[in-house]
Amino acid sequence: MRRIEIFDTTLRDGEQSPGVALNADEKLQIARQLAKLGVNIIEAGFPITSLGDFEGVRLIAQEVRTVSVAALARANAHDIERAWEAISVAESPRIHTVIATSPIHMRYKLLKSPHEVLELAVQAVTLAKSKVWDVEFSAEDASRSDVDFLAKVFTEVIKAGATVLNIPDTVGYSTPEEFASFVRAVMERTTGIEKVKISVHCHNDLGLAVANSLAAVGAGAHQLECAVNGIGERAGNAALEELVMALHTRGDFYGADTSIVTKELTRTSQLVSRLTGMTIQPNKAIVGKNAFAHESGIHQDGVLKEPSTYEIMLPSTVGLEMNSIVLGKHSGRHAVHQRFNELGIDLEESQFEEVFSRFKLLADRKREVTTADLFSLVDLKAEKEDQIRLDYLQVSSGTHLTPTATVGLMFNGQRLEDATCGDGPVDAAFKAIDKVLGTEGKLINYSLQAIDGGEDAQGEVTVTVKFGENLVGGRGVSTDIIEASVLGYLQAVNRAFGRGWIKIREKNAS
Ligand code: KIV
Ligand code: ZN
Repeated sequence: MRRIEIFDTTLRDGEQSPGVALNADEKLQIARQLAKLGVNIIEAGFPITSLGDFEGVRLIAQEVRTVSVAALARANAHDIERAWEAISVAESPRIHTVIATSPIHMRYKLLKSPHEVLELAVQAVTLAKSKVWDVEFSAEDASRSDVDFLAKVFTEVIKAGATVLNIPDTVGYSTPEEFASFVRAVMERTTGIEKVKISVHCHNDLGLAVANSLAAVGAGAHQLECAVNGIGERAGNAALEELVMALHTRGDFYGADTSIVTKELTRTSQLVSRLTGMTIQPNKAIVGKNAFAHESGIHQDGVLKEPSTYEIMLPSTVGLEMNSIVLGKHSGRHAVHQRFNELGIDLEESQFEEVFSRFKLLADRKREVTTADLFSLVDLKAEKEDQIRLDYLQVSSGTHLTPTATVGLMFNGQRLEDATCGDGPVDAAFKAIDKVLGTEGKLINYSLQAIDGGEDAQGEVTVTVKFGENLVGGRGVSTDIIEASVLGYLQAVNRAFGRGWIKIREKNAS
């Protein structure tokens, strides 16, 4: 079996999905889970693009020690210096530098000749190599590039010290057979290819990202770039969980496997979905709600007699465990503690006490506290910078009523309150918060997900809000979805306030 390396770009290409705005803590939470999942490289971000991205990459480089951490940089000195500044503290850092090699990109985007592009690529790799041993070079839009020109660029960057060469299908244009022969041709025509690893990075514009990546494995690729739940630019990247389970389940065909701990796939997928607010379609392979559900009687009968009749993978292999122990308001410390242990969540005593008191509040509102609820209790800790807190919320709405909301907020030891109308109860509540604080948030993205099935499921709301030019995310969880929305909006307000992006007007104090 060949070992294929998994290069995860959830925090870089994935974070470029429209409406996604993760803060440094959330990125770290995802990076820690990726390390647990066993990915080989985490592409933590694109440090030159913003201070927030730089800080996120640096934090991950400092804290996640068991996995290689990569940072993206265009092929220029400024980007490379900044990327290096962010990852130099990592245990195993990689600079990933990129320049486009297709005629379309060179001519219309870069306004450069092929010769100039070749020179910039070599200069970039030389500079990166002067800082770190591990240097990945990507030829953007490689699949639409001239194969001989690409091989020439690759030959030269190998001489300059590149350790990994990436062949992206940037616009998701290739087809599996075509991509496999392209990868083969580039490998055959590149001098020194045996000294480096070949990587592919496929986008999903035609729904072929996973198929193209797997075809490249057949052609000899060593590394697959992918994102959890397939998130990323436009239609996204190849989905990590699909690649991993295809290799795991059909190792007989591909003769290849990965080092991924498949039992962590479901948990990773859910965490990414919750923090990004990007919901997973129910029929999504591997991690969709229906991926292991059998509806028809004939199928159910078959699975009961012998699971392999209709199941090519066991749900437990991807971490879908049915736990029979029900936690509720009568559950004590010991049972809750034990369940956290079983889930592999280690909490220090003070952390456990904090989580346990939130567990009790939740158990008063909800009959059964599920595994997903437990994860949300751990994930949703109050943030240090939260200076504005919800005191009360009152909403009225109905078929023939104008939706109206009144909110009371605590800020600087004072209660601030106001009321206003909106297009719906959530809109009214958000407007009331803005009215109280004198802020002007523009809602860019709003997503509501039930944390688990069932009538009394908690709702988790993820918002992305624009204050001036700055995008900021927030999340809230409650059994009441309007309250969850308000908590999410307030978290975004608190984060914007903590970063000095907004000012709070102290009026209407009571
Ligand atoms: O899609 C792409 O070409 C990229 C590169 C930066 C690898 O994301
Ligand atoms: Zn990409």
